[in-house]
Amino acid sequence: MTTTNPGTSTSTGDPYREVLREAFVRRYEDGADSWSEEPAMRELVPLLCTELAAGSTVIDIGAGRGRDTELLLAAGHRVTAVDLVRLPDWDGIARRHGAAVSFETGNFADMTGGRTFDAAVDNGVLHHQDPAGYARYLANVRRRLRPGGLLAVSLFTTAEELAEGVLNRAEDGRLSRWFTEREARELLAGAGFAVTAVRTVRRELPGLAYLLVLARRDA
Ligand SMILES: C[S@@+](CC[C@H](N)C(=O)[O-])C[C@H]1O[C@@H](n2cnc3c(N)ncnc32)[C@H](O)[C@@H]1O
Repeated sequence: MTTTNPGTSTSTGDPYREVLREAFVRRYEDGADSWSEEPAMRELVPLLCTELAAGSTVIDIGAGRGRDTELLLAAGHRVTAVDLVRLPDWDGIARRHGAAVSFETGNFADMTGGRTFDAAVDNGVLHHQDPAGYARYLANVRRRLRPGGLLAVSLFTTAEELAEGVLNRAEDGRLSRWFTEREARELLAGAGFAVTAVRTVRRELPGLAYLLVLARRDA
């Protein structure tokens, strides 16, 4: 793995948690959440829906403004949306969909208990976590899925095949990691998931893409 702009140590997740929250609060406050309207971001839920049974329960981890939450609700699923930041868009979604949707504010890492779901969506979240915490994060995702439950995850990658992963730290301290397909497969296999589909979606930004991975929780 190549690390650029390494900044301070990432060996302990705790100081980074607040850095991450503040970075996202600021991005939303400044209207700098370009991902919310990015067409390539809306390819993950259609991929998940190719394997998701009708009327499923889904946890949307790092739901942001709730764009995927709305897509899932429109497809007839019930959704719990979780994010570090509470966004005003949630009010309209709650009004439109009533009991089919619920929202939780906080760090997913702290939400270790509670009910299990048929599927989990992680659209642009895992790749911003501290790499030292990936295993713990995925163990928590696994815990929130029923055996055989589906995980749909979208990770940063490049349009042309990437030789090795890259970790970048932005000026606000937010980490972003670009994954190779091999790394993504190994990470998920090591966390107790069996990959069922992989797709690369090119972004409008030159040279960049998302790696969409669908995986099932082992029994
Ligand atoms: C790139 S945005 C994507 C938002 C949304 N999934 C979408 O498709 O538009 C990542 C989101 O994950 C949230 N997030 C990041 N780390 C998180 C964590 N550990 N727990 C809960 N939410 C988190 C951020 O606040 C942000 O809204």
